[in-house]
Amino acid sequence: MTVTSKALYIHTIGCQMNVYDSEQIAARLSAMGYEQVSGPDTADLIILNTCTIRAKAEQKVYSFLGRLARLKAVRSDMIIGVGGCVAQQDGKKMLKRLPFVDIIFGTKAIDRLPAIIRTIESKQGPVVDIDLEDTQPSADFYEHHEQQTAVSGFVTVMRGCDNFCSYCVVPYVRGREISREPQKIIKEIKHLVDTGVKEVTLLGQNVNSYGKKQGLCSFADLLSRINNIEGLLRIRFTTSHPKDLDSDLVQCFGHLEKLCRHIHLPVQSGSNAVLKKMNRKYTRELYLDKVAKLRDTCPDIALTSDIIVGFPGETAADYEKTLGLISQVEFDGLFAFQYSDRPNARSVEFPDKISEVEKKDRLQRLLAMQEAITKKKNQALVGSVQTILVDGLSKKEIADRPQVELLPEQWTGRTTTNKIVNFDCEHNCDGRAAIYPGRLLDVRIEKAYFHSLQGKPVTVETTAGDAKGANSYAA
Ligand code: SAH
Ligand code: SF4
Ligand code: F3S
Repeated sequence: MTVTSKALYIHTIGCQMNVYDSEQIAARLSAMGYEQVSGPDTADLIILNTCTIRAKAEQKVYSFLGRLARLKAVRSDMIIGVGGCVAQQDGKKMLKRLPFVDIIFGTKAIDRLPAIIRTIESKQGPVVDIDLEDTQPSADFYEHHEQQTAVSGFVTVMRGCDNFCSYCVVPYVRGREISREPQKIIKEIKHLVDTGVKEVTLLGQNVNSYGKKQGLCSFADLLSRINNIEGLLRIRFTTSHPKDLDSDLVQCFGHLEKLCRHIHLPVQSGSNAVLKKMNRKYTRELYLDKVAKLRDTCPDIALTSDIIVGFPGETAADYEKTLGLISQVEFDGLFAFQYSDRPNARSVEFPDKISEVEKKDRLQRLLAMQEAITKKKNQALVGSVQTILVDGLSKKEIADRPQVELLPEQWTGRTTTNKIVNFDCEHNCDGRAAIYPGRLLDVRIEKAYFHSLQGKPVTVETTAGDAKGANSYAA
């Protein structure tokens, strides 16, 4: 069959799951003759993959759609599809508001997208598909990946969420939790490794409950099996819910050599009263106990977290408890957000909403506190040797150190603890052939900044065993 090439532009807003879903969309559409282009202007088909986690994310979606409306006004033959979490949330309503859109497809419609596009191509549109039912109960949704150019890849191990944290829209737009079968995940990772990937990040809203509902293996067992995949160098995962972090998983950090020494463990608040209203089902004490167990098992594990400030009813004392927890735990990094009312979330009805001004102030104070902790932690690494997985050439501008003039050939990679290390090859390098994306490299840390570290390779030999399959710049 010959397929004529058409131009596809995918714009992704949101979390890593959306990034993964967009890759899956690209793979399916490539089989239909759609080739990805880097901007919307020349595209025959535009897919916007959307996020609605906070009001700001949703606003971003609608403002991008405004841009697409102007484009479609001059290129009426172009097909515009809106997928992901806003599409799932707003469905038909979206079509009323945006009559120039051809397709609204929800978070479970990716497999059906090629058929939908054929319908539109034959001028029988528009189509809305926001069915959240599991048409494939095994969740065997995705196995294709296009040839990878990156060192790291994402693999979704489960979808949806059953937790219903009171502030969160995810259970309503992603449906009930469902895990993929381990053999399908392993097959997909092996395929990624064959295409040059060295590191995988396993994705799920709550990976710690992986497999429980369907009686599959535990998440710890899944990690052990992935650890045995030949050619894979590193494993990461996100996100862990503290209530489900069990000792088997904690132990994995002690004995699985490919498992990176980093865990993202969102705490959301340091106040038990707020945690209760959030329906998080753990206390501050339980959270701190889990952190202690992780550090007992793996003393240098890096910890990152999510915090929501200004949850309805959050008092100054509650907020202080969150600051206290942050200074006690000393996270390596934090993602902090101002509380935002979301459709269907129970907290919309909660009294004592915090003003925008107060939320902003609480956020800024918290971020300033964390900045000092992150800088201190990064500074403590100066002089140490860290093994990094080389990602590739680094970006030219690094926002937090504009004063430093970058050398022409800056490389970048990440430590097992997920810290970015930039380095150059001025010293100790046996030519350019020694450095390539996908190799593990020992780097001595010389300088620390807020977002990154700067180092120099310790010794570099050209004949590295882990070169196989890497996308080398050396050729
Ligand atoms: N499943 C993950 C998180 C998914 S959403 C978990 O349970 O940790 C990512 C983060 O967005 C959350 O951890 C939370 O901190 C933040 N978030 C979610 N809903 C929010 C809301 N309504 N307002 C502000 N932040 C929110
Ligand atoms: Fe949202 Fe809570 Fe589920 Fe995370 S665990 S996706 S915060 S409902
Ligand atoms: Fe956003 Fe949907 Fe992810 S709401 S954070 S894209 S699950």
